[in-house]
Amino acid sequence: MNIPMVDLKSQYLKIKSEVDEKIMKVISNTEFINGTDVKEFKAELAAYLNVKHVIPCGNGTDALQIAMMALGLNPGDEVISSDFTFIATVETIALLKLVPVMVDVDPETFIITPEAIEKAITPKTKAIIPVHLFGQCADMDRIMEIAEKYNLYVIEDTAQAIGSDFTSEKGWTKKAGTIGHIGCTSFFPSKNLGCYGDDGAIFTNDDDLNEKISSVVNHGMKVRYYHDRIGVNSRLDTIQAAVLRIKLPHLDEYNAARRAAADYYDRAFQNCDKIVTPVRFNKSTHTFHQYTLILKDVDRAALQEYLKEKGVSSAVYYPVALHNQKAFQGYNFNTANFPVTDKLCETVLSLPMNTELDNDTLKYITDSVLEFFV
Ligand SMILES: Cc1ncc(COP(=O)(O)O)c(C=O)c1O
Repeated sequence: MNIPMVDLKSQYLKIKSEVDEKIMKVISNTEFINGTDVKEFKAELAAYLNVKHVIPCGNGTDALQIAMMALGLNPGDEVISSDFTFIATVETIALLKLVPVMVDVDPETFIITPEAIEKAITPKTKAIIPVHLFGQCADMDRIMEIAEKYNLYVIEDTAQAIGSDFTSEKGWTKKAGTIGHIGCTSFFPSKNLGCYGDDGAIFTNDDDLNEKISSVVNHGMKVRYYHDRIGVNSRLDTIQAAVLRIKLPHLDEYNAARRAAADYYDRAFQNCDKIVTPVRFNKSTHTFHQYTLILKDVDRAALQEYLKEKGVSSAVYYPVALHNQKAFQGYNFNTANFPVTDKLCETVLSLPMNTELDNDTLKYITDSVLEFFV
């Protein structure tokens, strides 16, 4: 047995002829940069998300950086985000010489809480970056209320939640990443909508922000060789756009397959008192970028070793909270502020999660986990 966390090969084989043909077409047309597929993908993703503007870029990290550049934030401005996320979210704040203000997360859903955000607001706060971690949305009702009350920008980090729906208590339902002022996502291969390299995208419903973001991604330029602002070079390659155009129509089916695998895991573990299965937030669908357990009084390293011997992969997202990362040593964060994140870093474990898990494989994985506790 060799069960990986992600199985991109089996997924590719199902769309191979279409993908191979499309890639060869881009190559034979030599339309490598800003080709037809890029324009078509922009429109198709905008239609899927029901958002006015999609601006593709080089990766999810660039998307976050570009969003903050387009908002015109200045050095010293504070940006609030989660302590329990991939470093990209907070690294980009620091890179722009803004001040990262990390806050603790909800112990059940792993997601930034509106209460923690509101507590962290100071006169210097300019933006909030809620991270829709592992596939479900933060409470965007409360977060948008806070943003309005304190006049803050909201940049949704939806790198792990593309396709998730947030249903507001006001009655509307919107896609993750289209509720705040700007949404940012990643098309890293293992993401729910992954290409075959590095890419990402930025979404907005605001025409003015669309202009600024479109300029920043392209050297601050609207008219060729006339540069209105300092920008970057961050593009979606046409070959990757071609791949994404083939995969986008499958996104809902891919997310449903992930949800079905999560349901299987939930059922298998429901009577195990050593495991807390992922809690689903009632305002959001869950697209299970990761299926992450909380272990109770379990030697996690021993469990991982046991699973490895059985050929079952597992991973820890994330082993070190951001406030404890060496990269942020100079910031002197108050380490007492993050009890939930600290605990999660010691107790979480993610199991294989992808679009290709069948019931036999899931049975083998769950039996192997449960055997460890016998
Ligand atoms: C929450 C989150 N934000 C941002 C990123 C950055 O995306 P990329 O790897 O495409 O730069 C990731 C990627 O793992 C992520 O998980």
